[in-house]
Amino acid sequence: MKNHIAKTLLCASMAFGSLCASAQVTVSSKDISPILVGAFFEDLNYAADGGLYGELLENRSFEYTPSDVDHMKNKVNNVWNSFTSWQFIRTKNAIGRISVETAQPIHPNNPHYTRVRVLTGGTQGAGMRNLGYDGICVDEGKGYNFSIFVRTANEGIMLVRMVDGAVVLDEDSIPLAPSAEWTKYACSLQSTRTTDCAAVEVLFPSSGEYDMDMMSLFPVDTYKGRPNGLRNDIVQHIEALRPGFMRFPGGCLAHGDGLENIYYWKESVGPVEERIEQPNIWSYRQSRGLGYHEYLQLCEDIGAEPLPIVAAGVSCQNSARRRGDGQEVIPMDEMDAYIQDIIDLVEYCNGDTATTWGKKRAEAGHPTPFGLKYIGIGNEDHMTPDFDERFAMIVDVMRERCPEIKLIGTSGPAVSGRDFDLGWEIARKADVWAVDEHCYASPEWFLDNLHRYDNYPRTGPKVYLGEWASRGNTWWNALCEAAFLCHLERNGDVVAMASYAPLLAHRHHIQWKPDLIFFDERNVYPTVNYDIQRMYAEYRGDHVWSGIITDEKNHEPDATSCVTNSTDKHIYIRLVNTTDQPLMRHINLTPLHPRNHKATIEVLQAERTAQNTPEQPQVIQKSATTIKVRKTMSCELPPYSVTFIKI
Ligand code: AHR
Repeated sequence: MKNHIAKTLLCASMAFGSLCASAQVTVSSKDISPILVGAFFEDLNYAADGGLYGELLENRSFEYTPSDVDHMKNKVNNVWNSFTSWQFIRTKNAIGRISVETAQPIHPNNPHYTRVRVLTGGTQGAGMRNLGYDGICVDEGKGYNFSIFVRTANEGIMLVRMVDGAVVLDEDSIPLAPSAEWTKYACSLQSTRTTDCAAVEVLFPSSGEYDMDMMSLFPVDTYKGRPNGLRNDIVQHIEALRPGFMRFPGGCLAHGDGLENIYYWKESVGPVEERIEQPNIWSYRQSRGLGYHEYLQLCEDIGAEPLPIVAAGVSCQNSARRRGDGQEVIPMDEMDAYIQDIIDLVEYCNGDTATTWGKKRAEAGHPTPFGLKYIGIGNEDHMTPDFDERFAMIVDVMRERCPEIKLIGTSGPAVSGRDFDLGWEIARKADVWAVDEHCYASPEWFLDNLHRYDNYPRTGPKVYLGEWASRGNTWWNALCEAAFLCHLERNGDVVAMASYAPLLAHRHHIQWKPDLIFFDERNVYPTVNYDIQRMYAEYRGDHVWSGIITDEKNHEPDATSCVTNSTDKHIYIRLVNTTDQPLMRHINLTPLHPRNHKATIEVLQAERTAQNTPEQPQVIQKSATTIKVRKTMSCELPPYSVTFIKI
């Protein structure tokens, strides 16, 4: 492919015969959602545990069980158990043994712990080593916060060591306080080396019994330095997207693998050692260390509206413990309590500190309300009479008890078909604010559907395109998504929100592809699709214009959009070329009365099949120029390119 970037032409032109209208094009504008482009977060692909959540130790509370994994295939994996990621260690001449115990745990929600029995202390006793997820990455000179709960009747010390093989990177010796109760101990460690395969050890040099649980290691340098915080580099990539909103906890994880596995938000708040860990519908374990409070804090930190998704009183139809179609339903006589839980969630987010749940939020360190505005009820559920009945109940009660919350319905896993039609019908009947549509399709589907929302009714529920992605991470995928984003903007009066899904994936633990951002223990690898989402979310508008951009036949072309932002006063134009030939576009800014005389033009271009890889993390060629704005301009779009103009 020739590099056309240099040839991109933007010049004054008198191509337009009239200022505001021609035979084919009429200038008009409408208000659009200022939070159109957002983020979808789900603990899938190790997105939370082993990913965004800053905890460096895996299985810190010995809760892994064989049934966490591979239950989708109805078999257990005996490699996955209470000691996954742990090793028993003993120093020279020491004799000891370990067992998993459940009597008098730290909290009933956290039932398992390990008992280390040191029979002979030897040089430095015996203890346990945690290996982290895929090895612990530490950096020379950086600090790490270690903590652990121990219960022992013994006096003496506990040795804490950060190691790289046989090399000790740092260590501390903590005096133990003999007690029949659990005691939390903490210390700071600093690594003397940069390595990707560190481990953390705790050793008890004196003979005796030591119960241990919730052993934890966080970098000091979490995002904003928060305790129990998030991985800085990953958050920075999410923050750079400037998402208008952030959906959590899923996805299928929200309505869970059967009733017990629904994401009951109360199990994910409060002290981490009292939260309920759960198997994950994606066949691993969710610690809930990154729970609702941390999600809400993250949304606030990055300026995104929080968008919790709660189950509509039914579990995921793909639940593995199948009964019928897999959808399990909350019995009607338990629905009042379930709905009260959702009301309590609103109180946790918005109630003042005199309320029960507002007080708990304050105790967690956030006295001011989070200002929740939206809740989604259900996730691409199978539309059954059970769903219908429970969804309507939830909506009725929520509308009465939490009138400030905009409610979002759901419409099945695809953009057409029985569940889609019924989902919309149910949502219209309930008169909710918006309906969640999910669309995973080929890139060509998105090009074929650049008029999908043009004829959607402008009354009744709006659209929340809650999960969407073309199937792949090549530049061709990203181009087609860019074209579709223009279409969403042009229909931003009816499409209120859209989130590419999924957001995150550990590149060695992938259950779902494509994804927007890949990462491993050390690095973050944004995709080319990410660049497109970022450009649309960052340069967002609250008004969309038609009739500003025309092609050579004086028609308004697809895959273009012009939005204005009434706050930053900018005009943003996006011009997508999905073809292998240059294309001309004409821009008539006269109706917009551009006040500034400068525009920046960024052109993103790549080979159709190009995609970012760890070896070649940025395949897009980017050029940026500044030009003097004229009221009418013409622009040649290079093949396979997206041009962003900011005026
Ligand atoms: O985004 C991945 C999954 O796709 C979500 O969990 C689910 O809602 C959808 O099927």
